[in-house]
Amino acid sequence: MTGNYDRIARFYDPLSRLVFFNAQRNAQKNQLKFINGDQQLLIVGGGTGWILEAIGKSHSGLEITFVEISAKMIDMARRKDAGNNVVHFVHAAAEEFQSEITYDLLITAFLFDNFGTEKAGQVFYKLDALLKPGGLWLFSDFYLNQHKPGIWQRILLKSMYVFFRTIAQVEAKTLPDTEGLFQAAGYCQQAVSMHYNGFIKAIVYRKAPLK
Ligand SMILES: C[S@@+](CC[C@H](N)C(=O)[O-])C[C@H]1O[C@@H](n2cnc3c(N)ncnc32)[C@H](O)[C@@H]1O
Repeated sequence: MTGNYDRIARFYDPLSRLVFFNAQRNAQKNQLKFINGDQQLLIVGGGTGWILEAIGKSHSGLEITFVEISAKMIDMARRKDAGNNVVHFVHAAAEEFQSEITYDLLITAFLFDNFGTEKAGQVFYKLDALLKPGGLWLFSDFYLNQHKPGIWQRILLKSMYVFFRTIAQVEAKTLPDTEGLFQAAGYCQQAVSMHYNGFIKAIVYRKAPLK
């Protein structure tokens, strides 16, 4: 079993705020303006579902599919008020999720840092196939500048991996090269924002439209 947050589900949001204040949330909230009405959204690894409440406050008429591997997380998400949006909850691993439809917009936040290189590629291509050509992928995660990685960022990241390996069997030991995956798949960056002194990077990617 890898990346199962059941044991930490109840404490995840307070812990995130304790360490990162509101930076993890702000990185994601800042991207919500890219959602347009009447869209089909796919949220993968959505955790406690606080994002559903945030979306519900600013958008309505959306059909949202919420995929989560942790039973405890998805239970908490089900209790959130998503406003005037319809949410379908799917208790599944991203890599096993099957869908008959494709989506206009995809959200993954602090999901890929859980994966080693091979699994990151597997999940990336699985989700890429579920996003419509021209669709948006709201991506956020931790970030280390490969040319000049800061010392405190490296120490914090290492400590987080030790903690999450112990508590949630997270397999990864370092961040996968997600920017390389997006680039190789022909995605364009539409908007980039940095948070928590550059340790969190939020990128809005657009998938190449059909020619
Ligand atoms: C670090 S938390 C982030 C939660 C949420 N996106 C947020 O920003 O608050 C990562 C979430 O991804 C989920 N997760 C990990 N591996 C997964 C997988 N293979 N498929 C689906 N969800 C996964 C975990 O259960 C956890 O809820």
